[in-house]
Amino acid sequence: MTRLGLLTSGGDCPGLNAVIRGAVLSGVVSYGYDFVGFRDGWKGVLEGDVVPLPRHAVRGIARFGGTILGTSRTNPLTSGGAEAVRESLRRLAVDGLVAIGGEGTLAAAQELAKRGINVVGVPKTIDNDLDATDVTFGFDTAVQTATEAIDRLRTTGESHHRCMIAEVMGRNAGWIALHAGMASGAHAILIPELTVSLRQVAAWVESAHSRGRAPLVVVSEAFVLEGQDSPFSPRGLDTFGRPRLGGISVLLEHQLQELTGIETRATILGHIQRGGAPTAFDRVLATRLGFAAVDSAANGRWGTMVSLRGTTIVNVGFDAALGRLKTVPEDRYQEAAILFG
Ligand code: F6P
Repeated sequence: MTRLGLLTSGGDCPGLNAVIRGAVLSGVVSYGYDFVGFRDGWKGVLEGDVVPLPRHAVRGIARFGGTILGTSRTNPLTSGGAEAVRESLRRLAVDGLVAIGGEGTLAAAQELAKRGINVVGVPKTIDNDLDATDVTFGFDTAVQTATEAIDRLRTTGESHHRCMIAEVMGRNAGWIALHAGMASGAHAILIPELTVSLRQVAAWVESAHSRGRAPLVVVSEAFVLEGQDSPFSPRGLDTFGRPRLGGISVLLEHQLQELTGIETRATILGHIQRGGAPTAFDRVLATRLGFAAVDSAANGRWGTMVSLRGTTIVNVGFDAALGRLKTVPEDRYQEAAILFG
């Protein structure tokens, strides 16, 4: 009997459990496959740490956030190498892997595939910045969660006649800021793709204030204010040695209040955007990606990843997902800017 191993790796994302459920149910029902799940991503592969995933283990999990398998940032190539992965799969009689993760995971999967290991990728990130797929699951949930939080900031802002700043995630791209900002009617949206001067932000804030509105600014964690040379990152480095972002809103709070004289408050939404139940859209997309990953394995399309193009799920090479990010185009930003000021 064919046995597939599933793993979730990198930062978690609403919809991971729906992928797992979709893969297991379609694999069991359509192909008679057997499944195991590796605990905590590649770490579980290297340590042979598995849990059986019979059909009943995935019952009802699509509606839950997080991942039942756990996740980690372990990179199999630096932590043991392809031979250690191959040996572990052989010992556990696993014929192929479905690796669900972001850029780092997909880069590792690509390297393993080049060395003859059977692996199919499923792209994941709340940031929606992977070029190979039109939308990543988790993004819709993150935008919904951010929008609900910003709506709440607006009512308290209005009561106190304050300017409210909401800081959202997005390490390299401003998609969450753009969508949550448009949905909540922000008077300024600040994204990493576009440097803006403090004076311009202040002008948008003052314009809203002069019309009796409580100004609302939505800023992406990676936004770079004119005059700064990189994203504001007072929180040290993450496990990849990248700067941990978060805090630009606090910097803006002080500077905007000083410049405009309008009382200002900043809120960093942070990991709230990654937690909790996925939206229906994300559950459906993630489930379809799970189905497609197992179909890919069944048809020998190893060394590829599944991706959404329009309304269809297709297979693309790992190359398409790596190296090039999908950032917010200028015209999408200008469209949102119709609402500013
Ligand atoms: O890439 C997803 C993401 O949520 C980014 O938006 C954010 O910068 C980063 O992960 C946070 O990572 P961590 O959970 O390691 O702090």
